[in-house]
Amino acid sequence: MSGTPATAQTLAIDGGSPVRETLLPYGRQSIDEEDIQTVVETLRSAWLTTGPKVGEFEEAFAERVGASYAISFSSGTAALHGAAFAAGLKPGDEAITSPLTFAATANCALYQGAKPVFADVCSDTLNLDPEQASAKITGRTRAILPVDYAGHPADLDSVLEMARRHGLVVIEDACHSLGAEYRNHRVGAIADMTVFSFHPVKHITTGEGGMVTTRNAGYAQTLRQFRNHGIASDARQRQSAGQWHYEMVSLGFNYRLTDIACVLGISQLGKLERNLARRREIAAIYTAAFREMPGIISPAVRPDVNPAWHLYPIRVGPAKFSAGRGEVFRALRAENIGVNVHYIPVHLHPYYRDRFGYKGGEFPVAENAYERLISLPMFHGMTDRDVNDVIAAVSKVCSAFAR
Ligand SMILES: Cc1ncc(COP(=O)(O)O)c(C=O)c1O
Repeated sequence: MSGTPATAQTLAIDGGSPVRETLLPYGRQSIDEEDIQTVVETLRSAWLTTGPKVGEFEEAFAERVGASYAISFSSGTAALHGAAFAAGLKPGDEAITSPLTFAATANCALYQGAKPVFADVCSDTLNLDPEQASAKITGRTRAILPVDYAGHPADLDSVLEMARRHGLVVIEDACHSLGAEYRNHRVGAIADMTVFSFHPVKHITTGEGGMVTTRNAGYAQTLRQFRNHGIASDARQRQSAGQWHYEMVSLGFNYRLTDIACVLGISQLGKLERNLARRREIAAIYTAAFREMPGIISPAVRPDVNPAWHLYPIRVGPAKFSAGRGEVFRALRAENIGVNVHYIPVHLHPYYRDRFGYKGGEFPVAENAYERLISLPMFHGMTDRDVNDVIAAVSKVCSAFAR
């Protein structure tokens, strides 16, 4: 029971009518006719994979983020694996990262036989806390992986400064932050390597897909080989040179992104500015609306960043509600608002608990935030009506549960 006051609307979870008839997802892609046409043209072309569209997408992407090189991968996870390999992570090494992320960020260290070491997050942005990270540096630390949670860049200058002092490689997990800016620099041109994802809920999509950007020619070459079995040339280079001979020089994988995906990426990249503008508009509308609602804490924005708003994670304040996060979540779902939770802290997953002995309580800021987080729908295709439905549902649920 929600303890609904007589004047409030009855919650859908208590048998009332939902705010909307159909479920609004928390994220989804937008694909238009132009996207479809370009994919169809590539399907009719000579190259479905490792053709001209791969290089075209990589060049356009590097230019957009201000990086010297962009190397495409079959997913953000594969791109993280490539970056961990290029950083030289190996058994016995440690890589420091945030526990409040998708498991793939930490898993990339494990793929290389290295150990992910977590450090707690800042209470405002929920990004890696540089002081906590600094305390975790040992003689075995080789890399540090800040995550731009929800699209808000991490405290990159502090992380880079710390990394330079200790000779560490910085791999920025920017899977949430394509198009974000940090101190007037574009994400993608700041860290040693920056990793992006093109999963359908992201700012642009290729179905599955990922990218690593870097200024370092050595990393770029290693990344290109790693995604192609560790082979020094690709099929198109050999065809145009009229050669059959190739050499495998390291152990890599087939992590290539197809031309079908890359042509979609090129078309989608043309819409990035529009997508970012819409996400920023939605974030501003949400933030203004929730300012009036006690118990709802909107995501913090530091003055030196322009976030990309992959997610809009609110925190619900238990002191203001007669219900916990779980009940608020279920009530919003019943109103047909497709809320989600980002993230179960990685160290609390059974695999990490069993393997590394985490019990909970090790990272109090991240764990406390997790208990209160709810991601509201946030995607560039949301209509004004969708945005209003989310605000109406949050308001309805808040007043029903208000103390
Ligand atoms: C922070 C973060 N890192 C890595 C990934 C992995 O990306 P992908 O799904 O493209 O493999 C994701 C995906 O959602 C993510 O959110």
